[in-house]
Amino acid sequence: MPSSPLQTTTESHNHSLKNGERYAEGINWDDLGFGLIPIDYMYTMKCSDRENFTQGQLSPFGKIELCPSAGILNYAQGLYEGLKAIRTEDGRILLFRTKENALRMKMGADRLCMPSPSVEQFVEAVMQTVQANKRWVPPPGKGSLYVRPLLMASGCNLGLGPGKEYTFVIYASPVGNYIKGRAALNLFVEHVYHRAAPGGTGGVKSVTNYSPVYQPLTQARAKGFSDILFLDSETGKNIEEIAAANIFILKGNVLSTPTLKLGTILPGITRKSIIDIARDFGYQVEESVIPVEDLLEADEAFCTGTAVIVNSVGSVTYQDKRVEYKTGEGSLCQKLYETLTGIQTGRLEDKNGWTLEVN
Ligand code: PLP
Ligand code: COI
Repeated sequence: MPSSPLQTTTESHNHSLKNGERYAEGINWDDLGFGLIPIDYMYTMKCSDRENFTQGQLSPFGKIELCPSAGILNYAQGLYEGLKAIRTEDGRILLFRTKENALRMKMGADRLCMPSPSVEQFVEAVMQTVQANKRWVPPPGKGSLYVRPLLMASGCNLGLGPGKEYTFVIYASPVGNYIKGRAALNLFVEHVYHRAAPGGTGGVKSVTNYSPVYQPLTQARAKGFSDILFLDSETGKNIEEIAAANIFILKGNVLSTPTLKLGTILPGITRKSIIDIARDFGYQVEESVIPVEDLLEADEAFCTGTAVIVNSVGSVTYQDKRVEYKTGEGSLCQKLYETLTGIQTGRLEDKNGWTLEVN
């Protein structure tokens, strides 16, 4: 049985970092999963509905207190973001496209009638959080510090309507792979439940988009599938996205991913990066409406996201049809994974200025 990440320390990584700093002790860096490990500090910034966010602060990691009638608890007026801080071989710490997370939070905040931190405030808050928790950023190659910004209506409001007080919180946790062993996914194409509808909130990172997925996901897992792929709710004919990741399919030299135009799919930052990298490799990349038949005829399929990175899809099952795809060595998925993680870890040149060093 794998040991808990909190039980043992891998001696080889328990050495000093720059300036005599040390990694956090008591962590088995070789066995990080994707679960919360409480770390030193979190970041909090508050504002009322009539003002902008101003001064945030770090405090020891701990619980947050909320009024039972808080907008987040009663009406789910809230958003979350996810990004990673990664340690390079030479001991630096890099963030990836953090401004994009800030912009996406702003978009979501507009949709949910919330004030949001400015892009500069968001980036500065992430920097401060990572900087204060440096010793929890895993050694190179062992994982990352997953950073989770939250924006929520934290004040009391009983009647239905936008809250009067808002809280922006950032917490973080060292993580390893989201999908154990980065195993190829065995997807179930969900044809009964839907994730998002045009005019809804599928295109923003609203907290309301996640728990409704639990029921179909639990049912699919009970049948041995690893995840579900949603179809569009208008026609039920076109693929949209996985519960927490975007999807791509490859046929010949054409790499396709579902269009964001209907507003039902989260504009993934990994998705956007993979589109650019694949175009650089010479693939024709299309953002289009993708009928489920095209998925069934593809050569390869993979999903993208901050947590999953770029993960191959080994098979999909649609009603009574199951198809398998190329995975592993020689796949485009593997090549894209190597390139993306190469940039994120500082191993490859960052020609686009996507990374930001935390000092
Ligand atoms: N789609 C959904 C529903 C998600 O929750 C995520 C994760 O953030 C993604 C796609 C991938 O987005 P990103 O690449 O920005 O992490
Ligand atoms: C991410 O990839 O960062 C997400 O937000 C997905 C989450 C379910 C871990």
